[in-house]
Amino acid sequence: MAAQLTLKDVSLQFGGIKVLQDVSFGVEPGQIFGLVGPNGAGKTSLFNCISGHYKPTSGSITIDGTEVSGSHPATLAKHGLARTFQHPALQLEATVLENVLLGAHTRLPGGPGEWSLRLPRTGRSERVLRSEALALLERNGLGWAADIPADELSHGLHKGIELCRALLMKPRLLLLDEPAAGLPHTEVEHLIQTVRRLRAEDDITVVIVEHHMGLIAALTDRVVVLDHGRKLMEGTAAQAQSDKRVIEAYIGKDAADDAA
Ligand SMILES: Nc1ncnc2c1ncn2[C@@H]1O[C@H](COP(=O)(O)OP(=O)(O)OP(=O)(O)O)[C@@H](O)[C@H]1O
Ligand SMILES: [Mg+2]
Repeated sequence: MAAQLTLKDVSLQFGGIKVLQDVSFGVEPGQIFGLVGPNGAGKTSLFNCISGHYKPTSGSITIDGTEVSGSHPATLAKHGLARTFQHPALQLEATVLENVLLGAHTRLPGGPGEWSLRLPRTGRSERVLRSEALALLERNGLGWAADIPADELSHGLHKGIELCRALLMKPRLLLLDEPAAGLPHTEVEHLIQTVRRLRAEDDITVVIVEHHMGLIAALTDRVVVLDHGRKLMEGTAAQAQSDKRVIEAYIGKDAADDAA
């Protein structure tokens, strides 16, 4: 079942630097939710807090009502969370298929002790994961590349590999950090179709960080705009695009006044 995500007064500080200040919002099950804002606004840091890579200084993060703030990423995977990274973190010398399989061991039965014993049930589960990984690659137009080392593929295809890797974890909550960055227009269109299909076919909640406002407008039910670590506004993508405070945050107050 798609997950519900709630943030309440999430703050993050590194030394004297306030990266996030009292950020609150809720994402309903099955929503596609956008997180936007200028460079350095704190979007990736907020994702890092949700995915357990950063521990918020204060505040609460719940998934389906369970407090997860400060949990380890592996624990969050068990709550159904998967994510992609702004800069794809791939094993470049490994094949595309091997990269998709990275991280999916959390779906194997038992724990690391049992996996090292190479029991038949581990082998069976690994074969199932492998065929699911191949099916995901096929579905995302990457089946042809399964056995090719990742470093032979383009940046855009690296993003596709990361998406397949996240989807293999069968997430109920998927965080995508700038999935369209660096993609040519046709691939952005393909990405929009992929996320739409995810919502239609899989029971999943998606939060997308993106600067590509066309993609945000095409996909999201709701957006939160961050600026300097604070929530500036919340509403639809159309409301955000016409909000004076948001325009000022992106292009500066003087330029916004001149444009008015
Ligand atoms: N580990 C860290 N230590 C110190 N400062 C950090 C750390 N992580 C993030 N920051 C700071 O937090 C601020 C927000 O960065 P963040 O990467 O979250 O922004 P962003 O909204 O994702 O920007 P972009 O759109 O450019 O990706 C920046 O000033 C950054 O330098
Ligand atoms: Mg970022």
